[in-house]
Amino acid sequence: MPPTIDADRLWSSLMELAAIGATTRGGVCRLAGSDEDRRGRDLFVTWCTGAGLEVRVDGMGNLFGRRAGTDRDRPPVMIGSHLDSQPTGGRFDGAYGVMAALEVVRALDDAGVTTVAPVEIVSWTNEEGARFPPAMVSSGVFAGAFTAEWARAQTDPDGVTLGDELDRIGYTGPAPVGRPVGAYVEAHIEQGPILEAEGTTIGVVTGVQGVRWYDVDVPGREGHAGSTPMDRRRDALVAAAGVIATLPELAAAHGPDARATVGVVTAHPASRNTIPGRVTFTADLRHPDTAVLEKMESALRERVAAVGGTVTDVWQSPPVDFDAGVVHAVRRSAAAAGLSHRDIVSGAGHDACYLATVCPTGMIFVPCRDGLSHNEAEFAESEWCAAGARVLLGVTLELAGEASAPEDVG
Ligand code: GLV
Ligand code: MN
Ligand code: MN
Repeated sequence: MPPTIDADRLWSSLMELAAIGATTRGGVCRLAGSDEDRRGRDLFVTWCTGAGLEVRVDGMGNLFGRRAGTDRDRPPVMIGSHLDSQPTGGRFDGAYGVMAALEVVRALDDAGVTTVAPVEIVSWTNEEGARFPPAMVSSGVFAGAFTAEWARAQTDPDGVTLGDELDRIGYTGPAPVGRPVGAYVEAHIEQGPILEAEGTTIGVVTGVQGVRWYDVDVPGREGHAGSTPMDRRRDALVAAAGVIATLPELAAAHGPDARATVGVVTAHPASRNTIPGRVTFTADLRHPDTAVLEKMESALRERVAAVGGTVTDVWQSPPVDFDAGVVHAVRRSAAAAGLSHRDIVSGAGHDACYLATVCPTGMIFVPCRDGLSHNEAEFAESEWCAAGARVLLGVTLELAGEASAPEDVG
């Protein structure tokens, strides 16, 4: 009997996980390094050991569950995503890719299938970067883009480091961060509206657009809200708001694929009867083409300079093209499963971006309702989730190879 995805089992695992850090509005708050993160990890580890996987935790808290193959010398085919969430996140962003990978392993077990290469489920630490910027940092360390020391020293708004939080929740592991990987495949909700609007079930992800993060600092002068005439003020918030209000036009000037977002604004000293003397805000610029992203950055810098402010680089993730072989494998697997599919470029960043620098990598998208993500209302139908897992199963079998002699399992 060929291995088959159990849609109900996948859904119930997703929902059990979503109960950890559940918000009253139907979403999830499982920030990296939090107690909820620990409980989500604990549950995932329980499921991994229950499936007979060898669990390994590395120095960034990345979690791996390994299913042996017949060839001990082959590097693993890795499948997974992340378990941390946005502060008002949904139940599917990240969690879906990890649970789909778990379901693939369970399906292989049910069918008694052995692969040649080992198959490893992975959950990457702090993909979101919501609490500890930047995003995708632990897959970045795994791929050699940052040192573990640097990544662990990144702080949340209270000055707590990621490393200290990983220690506190018991997820700083002994394994070195980074090792050879045969291939990496990540299933994820699209987080945008294209698949659902078209009625297409599977997105064959060909690449990911570029992302740049900045911190912007706008100066002003503190003063009394009542006695300072309007024409004698240097109100930092009014100046910052002027720049922020131009960002939709900045994006539009760079074509339909450009994105510009300010997610955090902080006014100092944050007193209702003091004119803000300083404002800091974050900026997130995205485009699939580096040259256009450069122009967007220049435009942002000009506008901030015009109000006397400064722009500091925080992080960037260049546009990524996934491996043609893995992309074809995803397409073939979708076709073989009889699922409608189309090529798509990811608007969101993913751990797959860093993995793509060290091994053949690809992604599988499934639709999400109204294209909503980073929103507590985020939702993907059970049948979409199962369809993506079916494609992941097919790709995993193709990349890891089905062993002809199961008794040789190593
Ligand atoms: C990751 O969620 C991103 O910001 O794209
Ligand atoms: Mn995600
Ligand atoms: Mn996300």
